[in-house]
Amino acid sequence: MAREQWGTKLGFMLAAMGSAVGLGNIWRFSFVAGENGGGAFLLLYLVFVFLIGIPLLLTEVSIGRKAKSDVIGSYKTLAPRTPWFMTGFFGVCSAFLILSFYAVVAGWALYYFVNYVTGNFFQAPAEGGFEGAFGGFISQGWQPLFWSALFMTLTIIIVFSGVKKGIEMANKIFMPLLALLLIILAGFSLSLDGAMEGLAFLFQPDWSALTQPSIYIQALGQAFFSLSLGMGALLTYGSYLSDDKRLPSAAVGIGLMDTFFAVISGLVIFPAVFAFSIDPTSGPPLVFITLPSIFEQMPLGGIAGLLFFFALSLAALSSAISILEVPTAYFMRLFNWTRKKSSVIVGSIMFFLGIFVSLGFGIWADVTPIADFNILDSMDYIASNIFLPLGGLSMALFVGWYFAKPTALKAVDLKDDVFGNVWYALVKYLVPIMIIVIFISSIQ
Ligand code: PHE
Ligand code: NA
Repeated sequence: MAREQWGTKLGFMLAAMGSAVGLGNIWRFSFVAGENGGGAFLLLYLVFVFLIGIPLLLTEVSIGRKAKSDVIGSYKTLAPRTPWFMTGFFGVCSAFLILSFYAVVAGWALYYFVNYVTGNFFQAPAEGGFEGAFGGFISQGWQPLFWSALFMTLTIIIVFSGVKKGIEMANKIFMPLLALLLIILAGFSLSLDGAMEGLAFLFQPDWSALTQPSIYIQALGQAFFSLSLGMGALLTYGSYLSDDKRLPSAAVGIGLMDTFFAVISGLVIFPAVFAFSIDPTSGPPLVFITLPSIFEQMPLGGIAGLLFFFALSLAALSSAISILEVPTAYFMRLFNWTRKKSSVIVGSIMFFLGIFVSLGFGIWADVTPIADFNILDSMDYIASNIFLPLGGLSMALFVGWYFAKPTALKAVDLKDDVFGNVWYALVKYLVPIMIIVIFISSIQ
C-alpha cells in the first residue's frame, strides 16, 4: 500500500497548526503561567519557544519527511543498527500519557459546550458559583468519563478515516473562528475593572521568580507541550510530506501561530482572574472557572461561551488526532494492522488510562504519585517536563551530530548561509546544552 500524503503544503500547515493549537495554549498555558509567577514565566517561555522550540520544530518535521516513516521507524531507516530508535519509544510513551489526560480535559470542554447549548451556564449556579459547579462535575465518577469517552471516540473516528480527508478538513474552518473569538474576549476582558492588575501580572516580570529552578523546567515543558514538540507528532505529520515542500517557513509559521494563541489566551484569562478575584494558582481548573465568569458578564456572553467551547473542543480534537496518530502509525507498521484496528486499540487503551486521571479528581483525589501532584499532574509532569524535552534533546543530537553538516542542512532545506549556520549552531550546541542544564538544575 502506498504511504498516505498531504494534498498540499497548506494541508500540512493547517494540520500541524491544528496539532499545536489546543488545550495547551489556553488551559495548560494559563494554569502553568499562573502557578509560576506570570511575567517571568511568560518571558522564559517566549525565549524557549524562539531559541529551542522553533529550531527543533524544523528539525523534528525534517526527520519524518526524510525517513517517511513513523517515530520509531524513522530512526531505524535513517540510522539502522543504532540505538537512536529509542527516542521513538519516549515519543510513543508520551503519546499514551498525554492523550490519556488530554481526553479527560477535552471532555470537560465538551461538557461546557453542551451546558452553553442548553443555557445552563449562562448564569452562575446560585450555590457555589462556577467554582462549585466545576468542582462538583469533575469529582463525579461516570459523568466526566462519559464526555471523555465521547471525545476519544471522535478522535478515533477522525484518525481512522484517513490522513487527508479527516484531519485537513476539520482544521481549515475552526482555527480562524477560535482566533477571532479569543481576540474579542481579550478586548472584553481588558475592559473589566481590575484588568490592569492582570496585565501587570502577565507582563511585569517579578525577577526574583527566576531564582526558582522549577520555573525553567516548567517553561521548557510548556514550550514543548504547546508546540507539540518532542513526541513525534510533527515527525509523523512530516512523514506524509513530499520532499518538494519547503520547511523553514512552515516551521516559523507554526511556531508564531501557536505563540499568538498562548499570548492572546493570557490576555483573556489574567485580567479576568484579577477582576473576579480568582486565585491565579488554582491549577488545572483555572480556565474552567474563569471563562464562564467572563461570559456571564459579557453582552451576548451565552452565545460567545457556546461558540468558544465549541471551537476549543475542536482545537483539542485536532491536537488529539495528532497525538493518537503517533502510536497508531507505529503499530500499523509494526504489527501490519489496518489504520482502523490500530487507532481503535490504541485509543481504547488511552481512554482506559484516562479513567484513573478522571477519578483522580474524585474518589482518588488522595492518590499523589509524585510529590503532592494528583494523577493528572503527575502524568503531565513526566510526559511534558521530562519525556518531551528528552525527545527533543535526542532529535537535536541526532540531526546535529549523527548527520554530517551538509546532510543536516539539506534535510531542513537550509543553505550554508547565515540562517543555515544559526540553525545548525543552535541545534548542535545551544539547544542540547540548554536542555541538559535545565534538567540538571531542576534535579537539585
Ligand atoms: N500542542 C498541543 C496543545 O497545545 C498538545 C500536544 C502535545 C499535541 C504534544 C501533540 C503533541 O494543546
Ligand atoms: Na499549543
